[in-house]
Amino acid sequence: MQTALPPWPAPGTFPPGFLFGAATAAYQIEGSVTADGRGPSWWDRFAHEPGRIRDGSHGDTACDHYRLWREDLDLMQSLGLGAYRFSIAWPRVLPAGRGPLNPAGLDFYERLVDGLLARGIAPFVTLYHWDMPLALAEAGGWQSRDTAAAFADYAALVQRRLGDRVAGWATLNEPRCCAWVGHYEGRHAPGLQGDLRATLSAAHHQLLGHGLAVQAMRAQNPSARLGIVLDQKPHLPATDRSEDVAAAWRGDGVFNRWFLDPLFRATYPADVAEAFAAAMPAVHDGDLATIATPIDELGINYYTRAVVSHAPERPYPSLTEQRVAGRHHSTMDWEDWPEGLEQTLLRLQRDCAPPSIYVAENGAAESDAVNADGRVPDPDRQRYLRGHLQACARAVAQGVPLSAYFAWSLMDNFEWGRGYTQRFGLVHVDYATQVRRVKDSGADYAAFIASQRG
Ligand code: FCB
Repeated sequence: MQTALPPWPAPGTFPPGFLFGAATAAYQIEGSVTADGRGPSWWDRFAHEPGRIRDGSHGDTACDHYRLWREDLDLMQSLGLGAYRFSIAWPRVLPAGRGPLNPAGLDFYERLVDGLLARGIAPFVTLYHWDMPLALAEAGGWQSRDTAAAFADYAALVQRRLGDRVAGWATLNEPRCCAWVGHYEGRHAPGLQGDLRATLSAAHHQLLGHGLAVQAMRAQNPSARLGIVLDQKPHLPATDRSEDVAAAWRGDGVFNRWFLDPLFRATYPADVAEAFAAAMPAVHDGDLATIATPIDELGINYYTRAVVSHAPERPYPSLTEQRVAGRHHSTMDWEDWPEGLEQTLLRLQRDCAPPSIYVAENGAAESDAVNADGRVPDPDRQRYLRGHLQACARAVAQGVPLSAYFAWSLMDNFEWGRGYTQRFGLVHVDYATQVRRVKDSGADYAAFIASQRG
């Protein structure tokens, strides 16, 4: 028996100008991976390697958004979205990562930005959501310091074309995930396993690329709104035993502080840096100051928490995650725990004090299906979204400078190593026909947005 849905936050809860939107990423929705001069990325290669993707799929077609973008923009307008966060595929713009521009690639994103503005939707651009041009990957990817400079050049180039129309820029999406899941867990491109040195090097060079990009973009357009998107996961001890409390702090160090401290304090956290000393990348003089170049807004992706126990037999941070019984878990096996979003926002304000924060991703995968009436009931996602927007409202009431909330995701899409097995959308996608159907949660979110507009 499901419990009744919690209410949405009341009208007037969020400050005037607060934006409610939805998010996607290029490789997860676009398809058309060889169209109009796009170069290959490391995700194209990785997804086609046997055994990498759970259902043997890839992003060659995905949601066919590269061709159906007008219809998708109309859908966003029909939902009343005030903002849309999408990413630009680096290899569409620069097929080899650096060097000659592919004008058709940039034209696509210009049409998208203009189409959003024509529909009253604010465009939020992420410059790197994991689709590294293959030529750069073959030259070392993020393990190469040169990639940081190439990224900054690419960021400045995109800004020269679109900078007068983009509401907010994020350099990178989740550098932690790209570094750790791609270079240590092997579940994402480039698929390395257990390589701590590569992981830390990829993390450092992404952060450096972020800092260089912010400097280049700021110099070009001082009024641009610049930031980065980090995944944040509160780490809580499974018990109040001191070993578990210490394990939770170590986990926080690897997952959260390893990225927050360089960005906001120009230093790596000493406890974790000591544990990782043997695998630390070369940090040149000035790198940390570059990484800590001030930003205008911090985007965070929040999905769930980690409840951890001390596990001395495991490599640092020597912990295991516990599954909390009796609570709803999504098909990703992620617990619905809205309190963590409130705690995360308060923690960021206290420890990092960015001028502005937005929720760049938040949502849940559920086993949605079209029913006999052609509807897609998804009460667990409704509950998740309502609960997390209530958490945002509580954070706002406590003074967090929260400016926008983006649901992940606008529509079902290619969920990386899990392929098409996970449905995160407000809108259902039938991949055989590319028919989109607004789920109950999408209609519910649209009604909430309308209520907030008063
Ligand atoms: C985040 C990614 C996003 C999506 C969600 C479920 O880590 O940024 O692309 O895959 O998880």
